Formats: sequence, C-alpha cells, structure tokens
Amino acid sequence: MKILAPSILSADFTNLSQQIRLVEMGGADWIHCDVMDGHFVPNITFGPFIVEAVNRITNLPIDVHLMIEKPELYIKDFIDAGADYITVHFEEVIHLNRVINQIRELGANAGVVINPSTPVSSVRDIVEYIDLLLIMTVNPGFGGQKFIHNSLRRIHEALELREKSNSRFLIEVDGGINNKIIKSISDAGADVFVAGASIFKAENISAATAELKNIISSK
Ligand code: DX5
Ligand code: ZN
Repeated sequence: MKILAPSILSADFTNLSQQIRLVEMGGADWIHCDVMDGHFVPNITFGPFIVEAVNRITNLPIDVHLMIEKPELYIKDFIDAGADYITVHFEEVIHLNRVINQIRELGANAGVVINPSTPVSSVRDIVEYIDLLLIMTVNPGFGGQKFIHNSLRRIHEALELREKSNSRFLIEVDGGINNKIIKSISDAGADVFVAGASIFKAENISAATAELKNIISSK
C-alpha cells in the first residue's frame, strides 16, 4: 500500500485540529511533523509539545522528521509525545546504529534520512536495521521548494539496495511533491509520500489530499 503523509509545516496553526481533520477526510495515512532547530537547518519549527497535541487530535500514525542537532537527546521526548515513526539525518548522527536501536527499544519505528547530496550507498550498512529510508527531494529546512529531479534515480538506487540487502524498509520521499509529479515518483517505486504546500496551501485541502491519494493508489 502506498502511504500519503501530509506535512503540517504548511498548515494553518491557528486551527491545527481542523487542518488535520481536513486531511483525514481526504484520505491521509500518516501525519508528518517537521522538527527544526535553527542549527541543523536554517529554520525553527516546533518540538514534542506540538507532536503531543497532534497525537491528541488524530489517531493516524505520526511521522516525526528530526532536522535537529543531537537528535539522540530528544528521542524519548518525541516517543512519549506519541511519535510512531522517527527519522534522523544520516548527516548528523555519528553513532547511527546506536540511535536506531534506541528508537526501536523505546517502541517506535526507526528511519534514516538522507539529504539530496548524500549518496544512497552511504546507508548500505544500516538499511537492514531500519523501517524507513527517507530520501529528501529538496534541501531540508523549508516547505514549498522545487523537487530535485535526480531524486528519481536515487529512488531506483534505494530499491536496488533494498533488494540486494534483503531488507524491508519503506522508501519515503519528502519535498516539492505535487499532483503533477507524484505519479512519476510513485512509478519509480516510492512507498511513502510527504506533501506540505501542495496540500495545505490548496484552496480545498481535503480535495488536494484525495487527489494525491488517488494518484498513488492507482496502478
Ligand atoms: C522540508 C520538510 C518537508 C516539507 C515539505 O525540510 O522536511 O517535510 O514540509 O514541504 P513541501 O511539500 O511544501 O515541499
Ligand atoms: Zn519532512
């Protein structure tokens, strides 16, 4: 099954529960939460407090994307707040195997994120241990950026890696995903699609969600 994960980064935070209700009505599968600290990326968003609020609003799985320095210090806080999936950046974490174990031992699913310039082959020796590989399709930090095109080739490389290593991780893509290009990304083999601006900046949030969901669900 293909999974659509709207990113609340572009949502109207004056009415977060209504915004989440609208994507639920459109068929969203997960809620993606972008945590930024102003150090790993040049933008600041929110922490466990908002994730905890999201968890009270929805029963959908919560996918927490940590764009922060030293994510290992905050993993327990995010899991206590209700995170079901936690992804940490390959570029930030020195003891990646340890951090992946830490996430799993605390009861959440663990994922690794790679920036657009990080070779897919860098994660070769961790993929057997992860639930999710998040391939950034923009440079992390902001919503509403343009999809980077060699990402399609990188999805193919991730598929190959999954096959060769006999692993089962889901391939997630994040950044610049809209109704025009999502089909080609889905055909390339991605499993989980994060979309922020193309959903929350649309005139009809539920309809925009449903449109993306229909495209990825059709063969
Ligand atoms: C960017 C974030 C994304 C962002 C995607 O650093 O990781 O999740 O919300 O937003 P769009 O879909 O607008 O590119
Ligand atoms: Zn994200």
